[in-house]
This record gives sequence, structure tokens and C-alpha cells, in this order.
Amino acid sequence: MYRVNEDYLKLPGSYLFSTIGKKSRAFKEAHPEADVISLGIGDVTQPLVPAIIKALHAAVDDMSRAETFHGYSPDLGYSWLRETIAKNDYEDRGCSISPDEIFISDGAKSDSGNIQEIFSRDSRIAVCDPVYPVYVDSNVMAGRCGTYDPKTERWSDVIYMPCVAENNFTPELPKEEPDIIYLCYPNNPTGASITKERLSEWVDYANRIGAVIIYDAAYEAYISAPDVPHSIYECEGARSCAIEIRSFSKNAGFTGTRLGFTVVPKDLERGGVKLHSLWARRHGTKFNGAPYIVQKAAMAVYSEEGKKELKEQVGYYKRNCRVIMDALKESGYEVYGGVDAPYIWMKTPDQMTSWEFFDRLLEKAHVVGTPGSGFGPSGEHYFRLTAFGTYENTKEAVRRIQRM
Ligand code: MLT
Repeated sequence: MYRVNEDYLKLPGSYLFSTIGKKSRAFKEAHPEADVISLGIGDVTQPLVPAIIKALHAAVDDMSRAETFHGYSPDLGYSWLRETIAKNDYEDRGCSISPDEIFISDGAKSDSGNIQEIFSRDSRIAVCDPVYPVYVDSNVMAGRCGTYDPKTERWSDVIYMPCVAENNFTPELPKEEPDIIYLCYPNNPTGASITKERLSEWVDYANRIGAVIIYDAAYEAYISAPDVPHSIYECEGARSCAIEIRSFSKNAGFTGTRLGFTVVPKDLERGGVKLHSLWARRHGTKFNGAPYIVQKAAMAVYSEEGKKELKEQVGYYKRNCRVIMDALKESGYEVYGGVDAPYIWMKTPDQMTSWEFFDRLLEKAHVVGTPGSGFGPSGEHYFRLTAFGTYENTKEAVRRIQRM
């Protein structure tokens, strides 16, 4: 008899943001007059900045002429972009990453879901709890997580590292030894950041036990604190234990344009094998390269004009963070994050569950957020708001929440 991949069948429900989308669409259908504001999924609202638009137009024109037309791009990315990233994101921050250790992709979500393919099926993963659901779900699909217990909302073979207010949303080193450790800083969903000192402890730990850290730094553009590293490679020893995933979505508004990259240093070996070779093989086999026009657009992110415009754009979203944080604090809510990250993580009032608060916010304030429990059991009684709305909508949303 034909059998599907039964590991997929173990996944409970639908992907978190699909569920939220469905719920808010149903509410809008039932209340067509309601002006619903979404501060749920972390999708940007500001248009691509002029420097990027200019680069896109020029690249589109290149595609119209035989002499400048581009077909398949190199599967690992154009060398001009990889060199620019190596210089700006790494060399200028004192990190040693060479262009050929950078793999351009269609975004951090794909890379963070796909990276697990290069590890053995019996690897033990450790994740923060709450966590960006892609890390766990992609490992479930690969058959690496055991069975799901709906009571505890946990997978039997996953090591959970609770991140709660009591530990400043940074996990303790786990008691059981993992093979793969997922860390995301600045953090989605809690908005917390990690100091270089704390992150260095993780790097030392991973090197000591032979684990690999998958470091998701998609939100690094939001860092303001001087002691918070923008890359894990700022920590000594990270080249031999860490893979870093980066995105152009949140620093440059590419959520719809799609582009990201993953860094796999050549020093990173496990079982005598360079993970760089495995990821290159995987990328070359399954990916035909990110579009030329989008990679050209990314070059503008690093131009003087682009840097200046993007600083303003990130500043716009950071202002939203302050609007949300100040208003919620004023109304007596317990709030976290929102300083080095575009997410505000609040405690639900009156011991309400995260989904109860979701429903109440939608019904009473017509505001959509993300229930903390959707990110893991330790997210229960928390709720996430994103700063990626427009300034006007953000102000209006918090006004309604305050009134509620
Ligand atoms: C989120 O809301 O957590 C993010 O937008 C999801 C993503 O970047 O894929």
C-alpha cells in the first residue's frame, strides 16, 4: 500500500500563522464593518526604500537586453553580493568570514527549515521555549522529534529550554546533551537579546560537547545595546561550532521580495566532515539560485544611500516599539522585549490563556496579535505584538487596547 511521510501526520494543527490568518479572516467575514489591525505576523508594512527600488529597476532593465540578461544565478549566490556581505556584515564587525562561506538563499525561513537535512536523523535538538515554530516543525517532518504529548504540548525527543521572565528569556545550558542547538537573538518571539558574554558561554559549551548551534540572527538590525552581538561570529570559537542564518526581510523589507543567507564556516566539522560541503551539496541540488534582480536589490542595502534610508526605516519600526511599550506599561501591563527587537512580549492580564486573550483582543479591540502558547508551552499566558505595523495603525491599536 502507498504510504505518505507519516512524520507529517504527527504535526498538530496547522502552521501557527496560518491558524491566526484563518481566525482573523473568519472574524472579518462575520464583522465586515470592523477595521481590524494586524500586529500578528511579523510582516513589514513600509515600502522598499528608494535606493532599493532604483536598483530593482536597473536590474529589470538588465534583463531586457541580451548583453546584460541573466539566466540561472550561481546556486550559492553572485560573488559580488557574497563579497559585499562578507565585508559589511562580518569584516567590518571584526569577524572573519570569507565570501565562499556565505550561501545566498530565498530567505531565512527556508534556510532555518532546511538546515536540519544535513544532520543525522537521530540528532537530538534543543530549542528555546517559546520558539519560532519552523525549527521544531521542520525537525518533526524529518522524524527527529519522537511523539507529541498534547497535554504537555511537548515532543518526547526534543530538549526544551524554557525562556521566561525569571531568566530574562535567555536559556540555561540544558542538562541533557543536544547535538543541535537552535538559538535566535534578538529573539522571536520574546524580543529579548543576549549579551556577547552569555552567547560566548553557549559557544564554549557547544565546542566542548561537539554540538552545532544554528544561530538565527534575522533581527540583528534592531539591536541598540552596545554589548549585544550582531553575529555569533563576534564570539571567539564560533567558527568551529556555529551556522548563522540572516535575512533581508526585517532590515530591508524583503518579506515579499525574498532573500536571505546562511553562513557555514569551513572550520565547522563533525565526524570528520565539513558541514560546508554538505550544505553546498544540498543547496546546489535543491536550489537554483535567488533571482538576479533581487540579489541586485540587496546590493543597494549596502550602498551609502541604502544604509541611510534603511536606518530610518528600522527607526520607524523602533518608534512603534516605543509606542506599544509605553502605552502598555502605562496601562499596567507587564511587557518585555521591544528594545533590541521588533517584538513586544506581554503577559496576558488576569491569568487569561494566550488564546483567550487573542479572542478578546480581536473581539473587543479588533486587533490581531500572536498567542504566546503558539510558540511553545512556556509561552502560555504571554502574547506577542509586532512593531511592523504602520505608525498610525500601531497608535490606534494601542489606543484600543488601553480602552479595553
Ligand atoms: C513571525 O511573525 O514570527 C515572522 O514573521 C515569521 C517569519 O519571519 O517567518
